[in-house]
Amino acid sequence: MDIQNLLEWTDKQVLDKTGKHLDSLQESILQGIWEHQDYEEIAKDNQRSYDHIKKEAWKLWQLLSDVFEEDIKKSNVRSILENKASSIIYHFVNSPNSNNISNSRVNICRENNSYSENNLKKSSNFPDNDHLYPIIDLTKAPELRYNYGRKLEISTLKEWLDNKTRLITIYGLTGIGKTALTLKLVSEIAPQFDYIIYRSLENIPQLIALKDDLKQFFAQSLSTPLPDIIDYLSSYRCLIILDDVQNIFKLGELAGKYLPDCQDYHKFFHQIATTSHQSCLILISWELPRDFVTLKSDKIKTLYLQGLTTEFEEIFKEYGLKSEEKWTKLSELYQGHPNWLNIISSTIIELFDGEVSLFLEQMKNEIYLGDIEDSIECHLQRLSATEKKVIHWLANQTEAVEKFPKTASLDLSTSEFWATIQSLMRRCLLDKLSSETSSYFPINPVFKSYLQRNPND
Ligand SMILES: Nc1ncnc2c1ncn2[C@@H]1O[C@H](COP(=O)(O)OP(=O)(O)OP(=O)(O)O)[C@@H](O)[C@H]1O
Ligand SMILES: [Mg+2]
Repeated sequence: MDIQNLLEWTDKQVLDKTGKHLDSLQESILQGIWEHQDYEEIAKDNQRSYDHIKKEAWKLWQLLSDVFEEDIKKSNVRSILENKASSIIYHFVNSPNSNNISNSRVNICRENNSYSENNLKKSSNFPDNDHLYPIIDLTKAPELRYNYGRKLEISTLKEWLDNKTRLITIYGLTGIGKTALTLKLVSEIAPQFDYIIYRSLENIPQLIALKDDLKQFFAQSLSTPLPDIIDYLSSYRCLIILDDVQNIFKLGELAGKYLPDCQDYHKFFHQIATTSHQSCLILISWELPRDFVTLKSDKIKTLYLQGLTTEFEEIFKEYGLKSEEKWTKLSELYQGHPNWLNIISSTIIELFDGEVSLFLEQMKNEIYLGDIEDSIECHLQRLSATEKKVIHWLANQTEAVEKFPKTASLDLSTSEFWATIQSLMRRCLLDKLSSETSSYFPINPVFKSYLQRNPND
């Protein structure tokens, strides 16, 4: 969203609530903050004194706090407004008037946003139908959070969609940003599709119930419903997003094995991956399903989502962290994992008033875990007995494990050992670094640090 869209939208919210428009100075302050100016620079650009701008800005934050019922200040105004504006766009499909494009909520981002009135279309597949397409149901999606960067991943995913990929699996650790990335993708590609639906498998729905739910969604705009999901996928361009897929896999076994009650999901995914149609299923998971590893097709793709590379700066700016020269080091320590960076940023604000250098100095070479522990534990509790054995062993190796490690102390056969390494990789807990002569399997350093401190977990 660009600043003009955001200003127009904010002004409309203020007008609706107070009966008054934002004045030009208020707009200039918002624009300045958006562009990361400080009050000094905004004052200069507007030929006002620093004190005047500071006072006016303070009044503006009060006004916006009342309008949006949130504690808005200089440090969070950008993210809160953007977040709110975007989430209204995302969730407009919730509204009973969602098919009414004159609904003013849809017009917020006329130029940039895929859901703007100009981009909604009458699908060529529905010549006699009054519905506007795409029909989107993101009602079960979490509210869109602020989401920086990810340009490379978005462009890869777009390319796959352009190539009519039928099945995409996005996998990565909890909190790495899988859902946020997918929702961002949806906002950019929506007009390519006739239908888009998001569902979570968190509560492990029976496949039959999920299929009924999907069919109901697809059938809403048709006078004659089609017999099967696959018929919709062939007749229309549909995007189905299934999130939290790890829930249909077994706990305490190697990664990606279906629960006994969920075996039919395997067939369903397989059918979508191998039947000819024009649609796409995106699976989002903590662990890679085993099914598709052996299926060789250019219509099946997998994205292993890792940390942010440079965009961490935006997160730290949002928190108002200090010692900018140490930000790269801080991000590297936590592998650019956005949720961990959020957690650590609040800790640094809480304990060190935002001074990153003080925090790093205190921690020396230790990785501080604090509230990150919860996210580590939820991965570890899914491991099998052999995985636990191997990961603890790995955590206590001083060097990354080489291709032919001495594993005598583990009491595992060679094939058991390698199946376990493979499974830990499919859970994103191990990486593989290859050189010309050998491969190394470094363990995620944050997990390593946790395991060294908790040898019995
Ligand atoms: N690109 C990003 N920039 C900034 N923050 C991000 C980004 N991606 C994710 N986040 C933050 O990280 C948090 C976790 O993101 P998200 O819920 O998408 O993770 P996830 O991988 O889907 O996790 P889970 O598997 O537990 O559902 C979000 O609340 C968001 O604040
Ligand atoms: Mg998620």
